[in-house]
Amino acid sequence: MLLGIDVGTSGTKALVVDAKGAIRARALESYPFAIPRPGWAEQDPELWWEAARRTVRAVLAEVDAGTIRAVGLSGQMHGLVALDAAKAVIRPAILWNDQRPRAEVEEILERVGGLDALLALTNNAMLTGYTAPKILWLKAHEPESFARLRHVLNPKDWLRLKLTGELATDVSEASGTGLFDVRRRDWSKPLLDRLDLALDLLPPACESHEVTGYLSAEAAADLGLPPGIPVTGGGGDAVIQTSGTGILKEGVAQTIIGTAGIAAAALTACPDNEGGRLQLFCNNAPGTWHAMGVAQSAGAGFAWTRRLLGLEGESFEALTAMAGGVAPGGEGLIFLPYLQGERCPHPDPDARGVLLGLTLHHGRAHVVRAVMEGVVMAIADMLALMRPLGLVFEQMRASGGGAASPLWRQIQADVLGVEVVTMAGAAEGGAYGAALTAGVGIGVWPSLAAASAGLPVVTRTEPIAANLPVYAERFAHYQTLYPKLAPDMHRLAQGA
Ligand code: XUL
Repeated sequence: MLLGIDVGTSGTKALVVDAKGAIRARALESYPFAIPRPGWAEQDPELWWEAARRTVRAVLAEVDAGTIRAVGLSGQMHGLVALDAAKAVIRPAILWNDQRPRAEVEEILERVGGLDALLALTNNAMLTGYTAPKILWLKAHEPESFARLRHVLNPKDWLRLKLTGELATDVSEASGTGLFDVRRRDWSKPLLDRLDLALDLLPPACESHEVTGYLSAEAAADLGLPPGIPVTGGGGDAVIQTSGTGILKEGVAQTIIGTAGIAAAALTACPDNEGGRLQLFCNNAPGTWHAMGVAQSAGAGFAWTRRLLGLEGESFEALTAMAGGVAPGGEGLIFLPYLQGERCPHPDPDARGVLLGLTLHHGRAHVVRAVMEGVVMAIADMLALMRPLGLVFEQMRASGGGAASPLWRQIQADVLGVEVVTMAGAAEGGAYGAALTAGVGIGVWPSLAAASAGLPVVTRTEPIAANLPVYAERFAHYQTLYPKLAPDMHRLAQGA
């Protein structure tokens, strides 16, 4: 048995997978993130540890602890977990969806000599969400914290430290710090030098299947597991969630509707990231890469809408059924889901959400539908950026919590104009891929491709021909709105 743990933004999941890839037990514990100011997002790492402890104990009520042979980790990417010399947490973690370090993104570009110079070093643009500008933000705004800073970890790697006492990361996660040369699959020393950051601030980066340490006696006692179980590299959630369901080479792409909305494809060579508009990261199998776009608020936008409309008491199924009663196109409503700024295709921390077209006729169901459609249009916007890389998709694999809704899958098929399938394991987020990479690490499978090869298709959704022209028109309209409204968004954001 293999144990995958995914430290997500809205919850932590523990998943037990057997040597055939079948799921034997799962447990999820939800938690919120704090928004101390508009555009900020923080979490106390202890929240992750408590949730990991409880979810692992919950799965061990169903599966004998003595059968667990390896642990794999997945987690929300990019978050800054700042540690002092004693490896103690200095301040709450600054998360991936925190937009505060805008000045530091500019500073990095200036210090490096512009975007092209940065792309030559890392093959990625610098984004407010990444770890690097957050480190510089700490230096500028919390100098006492920065003076104590000795180690920088991302969320799942902090959990690894709690489990094994070791400092380590994997290449997919390291890619999302903004400090990693994804072509060479190693830290960019020249970039670190230019930012006056020491290399030993960062943990060693391994491939995702490699063993990074062993469960300590103390952690084992806390979790109810035997000590000494190997803990493997794992991966950033947005990457391992796609590689774990078999997205390891060109041809098929994946969408994720989790807290964030993601469109992702795999590559067997590392192309130049022209203009840096995509995130081009190392993938979880050696010699593979991952191209993706990330929308900040997908499930987060849906949850916000539910709260705003006072529909917390309604189940996800009931809410989406409500939206299903409204015609495609929401009877003239368009939603731009930029509720926490945006990242792709508009890297703009001051982008803002818009619900356009409201009339007295529109009710709650229209708004829910417009939000679901807006999230899919954000994903379609990102996929359009992948075509210049020669990536053409005949099928889309849907995953994340949003993929559980038949209506959301249908909207994806209709907006993207391709068949949408869900695979076994896709609903499990990063925990499934994490468990599989752990299996590769201890020799259960020779490769991640072999581990994910036999995954069955669970659902298939074909586009509805009559909906295609409706959404083609709506998407064309959607794409014109951000350029027109950006100045108004900025005016409001800066006056807030
Ligand atoms: C990926 C990203 C999000 C977070 C949270 O670049 O920012 O997917 O990892 O899930």
